[in-house]
Amino acid sequence: MGAFRNIVVLTGAGISAESGLKTFRAEDGLWEEHRVEDVATPEAFARDPALVQRFYDLRRAGVLAAAPNPAHAALARLDRAFDGELLIVTQNIDDLHERAGAARVLHMHGEVLSAWCLACDARHRWERSLLDSPPCPACGAVALRPDIVWFGEMPYRMDEIFAALGRADLFVSIGTSGAVYPAAGFVQHAAHHGARTLELNLERSAGSHLFDETRLGPASVLVPDWVEEVLGRSAGR
Ligand code: APR
Repeated sequence: MGAFRNIVVLTGAGISAESGLKTFRAEDGLWEEHRVEDVATPEAFARDPALVQRFYDLRRAGVLAAAPNPAHAALARLDRAFDGELLIVTQNIDDLHERAGAARVLHMHGEVLSAWCLACDARHRWERSLLDSPPCPACGAVALRPDIVWFGEMPYRMDEIFAALGRADLFVSIGTSGAVYPAAGFVQHAAHHGARTLELNLERSAGSHLFDETRLGPASVLVPDWVEEVLGRSAGR
């Protein structure tokens, strides 16, 4: 199989698990501790904003205390060394891809280190608490919420993502359970447009049967090995 020229990577919480950040659907996952309906919907925010802000304050602090792991570093190496088209679509709200050095990253579910003003629509890098209702740095209104896509809201930049999937000759899914759409449907869209599809995951996911190939193991082992394979193939082109 020749070198790839156009790669889309999808990452989920599993790529950040070895950085110490909880995933969602493991036994000790985030959705075991909190009901989605109570902390990750617009209705929850309207009903009990303090509970929602506290939930994301804790995740924001966790992200700042975490460090990228070898899987993030390997994707950053791919970003620097791969001369074809590459897009890293992440469902994660952490900034570990960027802190590892990746640039071609798209956060389809938003970012916990970003605050969104509902009064003026401005977005601000935000590292501290939102619980004390700070004013928007741009307009002064007390209307900041986490810049995160909640259940029932539209993920960001979907047109851009589907256009990239339509051009891809390789789609790689890393550390995601395939439980949530639209991300869980990306593999079918890519395959429909002729891409080869590869899944790198700790265990078989809900979508494993949709992939040409599934490799099981920790991302910190599978992703560096895969990146070397792809870069070696590109060099051999
Ligand atoms: N290496 C690779 N994969 C791992 C690792 C690891 N070290 N640890 C866990 N995984 C895998 C799990 O086997 C699981 O398939 O990562 C996946 C994590 O699945 P989820 O917890 O469901 O997280 P994710 O797929 O990112 O959830 C998607 O759901 O709740 C929403 O918005 C939230 O973005 C999130 C979306």
